[in-house]
Amino acid sequence: MGLRKFLRVILLCWVLSVFYCLKAVCDDASEVTVKFLKAPPSHSNMKSATFVFEALAGNNEETFSLYTFNCKLDGGISSDCRERHVSFSGLLDGNHTFKVCANTSQGVGCASYNWTVDTIPPTAYVGASTTFTNASNISVYISFSEPCIGAGGGFRCFSANACNLLVYGAGQVIPYTLKILQPNLKYSVIVNLSSTSQHGRAILVMDKGFCTDYAGNKFTRTENSSLTVHFDRRSVFVRMRTHVPERLLQINDETRTVQATNNYKYLKLYLYFTQPVLNTSYEILNTLTSSEGMLHPIAGKSLMNRRFGYRIENLSSIAVVTVRLNSNAIISRQGTPVSPVAPATFLYDSKRPAVTLSAFSKMRTRETSITILIKFVKPVFGFNSTAVSISGGHLRSFHEISRNAYVAMIQPK
Ligand SMILES: *[C@@H]1O[C@H](CO)[C@@H](O)[C@H](O)[C@H]1NC(C)=O
Ligand SMILES: *[C@@H]1O[C@H](CO)[C@@H](O)[C@H](O)[C@H]1NC(C)=O
Ligand SMILES: *[C@@H]1O[C@H](CO)[C@@H](O)[C@H](O)[C@H]1NC(C)=O
Ligand SMILES: *[C@@H]1O[C@H](CO)[C@@H](O)[C@H](O)[C@H]1NC(C)=O
Ligand SMILES: *[C@@H]1O[C@H](CO)[C@@H](O)[C@H](O)[C@H]1NC(C)=O
Ligand SMILES: *[C@@H]1O[C@H](CO)[C@@H](O)[C@H](O)[C@H]1NC(C)=O
Ligand SMILES: *[C@@H]1O[C@H](CO)[C@@H](O)[C@H](O)[C@H]1NC(C)=O
Ligand SMILES: *[C@@H]1O[C@H](CO)[C@@H](O)[C@H](O)[C@H]1NC(C)=O
Ligand SMILES: *[C@@H]1O[C@H](CO)[C@@H](O)[C@H](O)[C@H]1NC(C)=O
Ligand SMILES: *[C@@H]1O[C@H](CO)[C@@H](O)[C@H](O)[C@H]1NC(C)=O
Repeated sequence: MGLRKFLRVILLCWVLSVFYCLKAVCDDASEVTVKFLKAPPSHSNMKSATFVFEALAGNNEETFSLYTFNCKLDGGISSDCRERHVSFSGLLDGNHTFKVCANTSQGVGCASYNWTVDTIPPTAYVGASTTFTNASNISVYISFSEPCIGAGGGFRCFSANACNLLVYGAGQVIPYTLKILQPNLKYSVIVNLSSTSQHGRAILVMDKGFCTDYAGNKFTRTENSSLTVHFDRRSVFVRMRTHVPERLLQINDETRTVQATNNYKYLKLYLYFTQPVLNTSYEILNTLTSSEGMLHPIAGKSLMNRRFGYRIENLSSIAVVTVRLNSNAIISRQGTPVSPVAPATFLYDSKRPAVTLSAFSKMRTRETSITILIKFVKPVFGFNSTAVSISGGHLRSFHEISRNAYVAMIQPK
């Protein structure tokens, strides 16, 4: 071995010994050591801890004089602990370090002890990609607050009846789909939703006390340890309603019910969905088309996103308004597109109807009555004899021929 190589080995030995000394918590090169006779478990669920310790000098049990024992908890101040026995209480959850040093005639020896106080029981959060679905199954996520692999051995799912995720209602866990996403912390499993019913719910809840954490705290459920999943595979419908009043109207010799108004305040359209939808009022507005004018959302009770209102503005004075909804672009809470719906049509007319009067008989004798045809350019409502005023005669009869044609027979004086 060359000299340089020899020196290098010596240097390495020195470095290693210094490193070893630091690592072994040796504050002093003395042969005095401190040994714990009693200490809390490395993970404790107790807020109190008791230490019992003794000092030893080397291997040969040589007698020595003990001057002092000094004890220190975490960053606190040192205190005398000559009784070789010390207790703490009211400890906070977290990591703690206890250090004890013995000052003896043979030198100083120290030892430290690390432990974790954990009084919080482990729990788990149960989640799913969605809690409303039309699917036949859903992925369920289980996330533990801390590893729970003490007594019991952690989360297990051997069969539908032996699974730490319990399923009540119209669902069943599919055990072979269990996946470990993060060991001892995160899992996923598929839950099969009943195919015999069109709609229903399944309640997923963690089992009770099936495991403990390192400190021995028993698993505890919280409000987040259960989840209700709703499934609904029924079709979703929408009803379009306007506030425009319905009237009977004669169109091409046919009496029909039409929605017609001259009142601006009735120009409102409401959509009623059979299920809550995911879309906003503005998103739905984008799926609405009006043949005339413009639609504007109006605030109002949404009945849990089932009702939406719109005002129709900027209509010309006479308009046949048809509003269509592209319902397929609207998605219900359970993911189902809304079924098609017929458009809503109504008549808006804010112009006063023009009227013409024409006499059938021009013979003005005392005996002959005069027949007057009262003709409006468009259908009118609420027109009756009280609206006819006569000077120099009186009304003998009055008939409605159609919504826009009336006949008045006048007897002159
Ligand atoms: C406590 O100590 C453990 C190692 O024993 C460590 O993993 C953990 O991060 C520490 N916690 C805190 C809050 O320092
Ligand atoms: C140990 O005790 C002796 C005698 O009381 C004292 O002089 C010395 O400073 C102490 N050493 C330490 C490290 O406390
Ligand atoms: C105790 O924990 C401290 C950090 O909190 C660390 O520096 C020290 O090495 C640990 N001691 C032991 C014996 O593990
Ligand atoms: C879950 O349902 C989907 C369809 O909804 C299907 O494709 C898939 O195979 C199902 N998975 C299991 C594990 O049953
Ligand atoms: C899901 O449940 C249905 C009955 O609701 C059953 O027929 C089917 O086999 C189940 N699928 C799995 C993968 O367990
Ligand atoms: C449940 O989860 C919510 C949101 O993740 C959280 O704000 C709440 O504190 C949790 N409750 C409990 C008891 O863990
Ligand atoms: C309605 O909401 C669904 C889900 O958020 C979205 O995919 C769809 O594009 C929305 N429709 C419109 C018209 O914005
Ligand atoms: C629509 O009508 C409103 C009043 O109701 C008016 O302020 C607005 O300028 C009109 N817009 C168009 C494009 O005519
Ligand atoms: C079920 O929901 C999905 C989206 O989650 C959608 O694509 C599908 O069309 C829906 N199925 C039925 C039958 O409505
Ligand atoms: C005639 O019309 C007026 C105004 O519309 C109304 O007040 C009255 O009740 C009507 N009379 C009859 C007999 O219908």
